[in-house]
Amino acid sequence: MANDGTNGINGDHPAVDVAIAIQPNNAEAVPDLLKQITAGVSALETGGDEARHDLLIKARTLVQSLETPRETMVKHCWAQTGAMAGLCFGVDSGLWKLMAKNGDRPQTVAELAEPLGVEPLLLSRLMRHLGAMGYIIETGTDEYKPTNYSKAMSIPIIGDGYLAMISCTSQGPIKFHEYSRKRGFKNPTDAKDTSMMYGYQTEMDMFAWQQSLGYGMHFNHHMGGYRQGRPPAFLVDIGGSVGHDLDEFRRHHPDAPGKLILQDLPVVIGQIKELNPAITTMEYDFHTAQPVEGARAYYMHSCLHDWPDDVCGSILARIKAAMKPGYSKLLINENVIPSTGAYWETSALDMVMLTLFCSTERTETDWYNLLEKQAGLKIVKIWSGGKGVESLIECELP
Ligand SMILES: C[S@@+](CC[C@H](N)C(=O)[O-])C[C@H]1O[C@@H](n2cnc3c(N)ncnc32)[C@H](O)[C@@H]1O
Repeated sequence: MANDGTNGINGDHPAVDVAIAIQPNNAEAVPDLLKQITAGVSALETGGDEARHDLLIKARTLVQSLETPRETMVKHCWAQTGAMAGLCFGVDSGLWKLMAKNGDRPQTVAELAEPLGVEPLLLSRLMRHLGAMGYIIETGTDEYKPTNYSKAMSIPIIGDGYLAMISCTSQGPIKFHEYSRKRGFKNPTDAKDTSMMYGYQTEMDMFAWQQSLGYGMHFNHHMGGYRQGRPPAFLVDIGGSVGHDLDEFRRHHPDAPGKLILQDLPVVIGQIKELNPAITTMEYDFHTAQPVEGARAYYMHSCLHDWPDDVCGSILARIKAAMKPGYSKLLINENVIPSTGAYWETSALDMVMLTLFCSTERTETDWYNLLEKQAGLKIVKIWSGGKGVESLIECELP
């Protein structure tokens, strides 16, 4: 039975006293965390990005430990949703681009509002909250300096994702509880009945929905941003978006022999503005027969996670039919979730899959079930990318 909002869950009295809401989440953990953080700061100089990640997780745990449940609630229900409104507004209005162009100096609301064509009072309110949340730095009354984060938001592959994801898809996670309740709280696997479709009352999948709202190119940019800092990969790139992986591969291996073919839906291929001439583009729907037969390698990056097993099975069957025995490889660049200690970016992506696609990020067992048992391929090796980074699953015909 659902929470009817009257008196605790299902009409019961709460199991804990309300005083808990204004006590820190875990005050006892604070002294030890501070010691670990101090040690972590010294490790930063020599430990590289791994040490930084480690420190980041401890610092986040420190904040969570100090925060009270009431503060966490206000953060979730007001502060973060309000910040999302301001951050998306900054991308759409050109605020982040203008601030980055003005450089690191303090900038007043008045001088920014005029060229943006935004009412100063509106900009003042939005920037006040973004300053209070630390996304920009307040330097005086209605005056702010950019941060590295706000500067990065001026770059399309960072900023555009806010419009593609927050503005086009957020009803998926936000309405998930209601969608799930109406379907008996079962793990959803029907790609034609997702929480996102329920939230927006549409039959379109996420890709078509974003395109219909005019944010298709923003999503392509978003995928370009997500892959930053990850190792490059290659070849017939199926669902390869606007070509960032192949482009990067070409830059790393300018003399690699053979053709590089980029396949995606016609609307995405049509949005490509500039591409290395060594890459051939091809409009292709991966729910239909694969037109390139006998390639050395077929490559898919972050595509299969968008679809439940039944749809993946039919996508894989198309690739399998085109592969040449003893020669062709299928290289799948995807997350392989460990059985414990999942990285937060990966579990977050699983929530995206759950609420937008009725699909999933997969564990090693899930991959073996899908690729070997269901699709009849052979996994040669899973090349691990490290914590929170996709692995490369090398497959061939058995
Ligand atoms: C999550 S994105 C991954 C893009 C790219 N591989 C990357 O890693 O940046 C999924 C891609 O699948 C493409 N896609 C969705 N449905 C498709 C279909 N039926 N046929 C071909 N591509 C499709 C989308 O247009 C999008 O570019």
